[in-house]
Amino acid sequence: MQREKRNILSKMKKAEILLQNVEYQETRTNIIIRNGLIESIGSKAEAAKEVIDCQNLWVFPGVIDPHVHMRGLEAAYKEDWHTGSASAIRGGITGVFDMPNTIPATTNQKNLDLKRAEAKDAKINHWFYLGATNKNYGQLQKILENDPEDVIGIKVFLSASSSNEILSNVTVLRKVFELGGTHNKIVTIHTELEKFIVPKYKYAQKIENHNIIRTRKAAITGLEICLQLAKSIGNSINIAHVTTTEEVEMIRAAKAMGEPVYCEVTPHHLLLNEQICNHMGNLAKVNPPLRTAEDNAALWEGISNFTIDMIGSDHAPHTLREKRHAYSTAPSGIPGMDTTMRLMLTCVHQERLSRLRLIDLVSTKAASIFGLGDYGKIKEGNRANLTIIDPEQEGIIKGRRNRSRARYTPFEDYRYKGAPVYTIINGKINEVNR
Ligand code: DOR
Ligand code: ZN
Repeated sequence: MQREKRNILSKMKKAEILLQNVEYQETRTNIIIRNGLIESIGSKAEAAKEVIDCQNLWVFPGVIDPHVHMRGLEAAYKEDWHTGSASAIRGGITGVFDMPNTIPATTNQKNLDLKRAEAKDAKINHWFYLGATNKNYGQLQKILENDPEDVIGIKVFLSASSSNEILSNVTVLRKVFELGGTHNKIVTIHTELEKFIVPKYKYAQKIENHNIIRTRKAAITGLEICLQLAKSIGNSINIAHVTTTEEVEMIRAAKAMGEPVYCEVTPHHLLLNEQICNHMGNLAKVNPPLRTAEDNAALWEGISNFTIDMIGSDHAPHTLREKRHAYSTAPSGIPGMDTTMRLMLTCVHQERLSRLRLIDLVSTKAASIFGLGDYGKIKEGNRANLTIIDPEQEGIIKGRRNRSRARYTPFEDYRYKGAPVYTIINGKINEVNR
């Protein structure tokens, strides 16, 4: 009785949002959003606090960025949850998976709680990765025993990359894979192997050599080890930022054998290559490095043949001052949340992939791989997380317009067509600034 009354009362509350003329399953329909949920999809319309005519817009299920470094804590000067969320919202992103290589690193309960406290009021849906090291297995086990919903998975760095918390011991790696399997958490791996990163005396230390210093063999051999291990255990793994032809091929083969191997690619590895280092300098310094034009083509092939599951920005902000250091001391990383959707929508416009395939890559797949039931789909009863896009909006990418604290981009002056115009998060509408 009490419950029925509450339901009636909440229905009487004015709807938060009415989306009209939404293109949905080959017809035009209305979407009513109330109490943070998609209440109805159909011909029904009613007065709402906000009404958006979507006749000339695209409505995507809320974009999820499965790979971001929101920083905060002791690196808040690079980015914090406030500026990071603003960057996401401008980029049409409704949810993020945050990486553990923060200071302090998310490798134990205490540091996870510190991060939780900082992110508590963030406007954006968020989940945290736990970082696995050679020494913290017991800590991870304890955290996962409580089955925390906000922990999305376990992240492993096989080499140092803006973090010294690496996992180099294969026996421990096996145990971590098993732990992921036991608790139904995906293990995501940065596969570059430390021992194949070429020692300093071999090549001149300059950005033009970054791709040969952090050699492709490092990423490929690390992947080989992970694939073998995962196969013997049977657990799910996710390969972060695939960059080479060989990796795409190896993952394609593993998938063909029915193995639960997933992978992600970044817009910068898809669209840029080592040639850009000449004029972008350290703004293009990123790990793994930008590779070659042939690798770009192989990644596109991986998008077409469904080897690649997700687009992740690997949003990794640093200050401009830090990026202006000499090559050897400048940090690696590219801010990406502001630009990912603009870049990928431009590719749809250029017919390099379809609109539906993009939805899969930036939303649906991440939700299904990581088990986020009410995300990734426009469905009655799901949380109202939506990204509304103007496919005709054109502009030029300028780093200074980033909402991220990192106001630069290797895509400076890139012409885009297609951009998010509203980012709806749990029923709250955010208008996107250009
Ligand atoms: O370029 C990178 N930057 N690669 C990583 O793996 C880490 C990231 C960062 O946190 O700055
Ligand atoms: Zn990363």
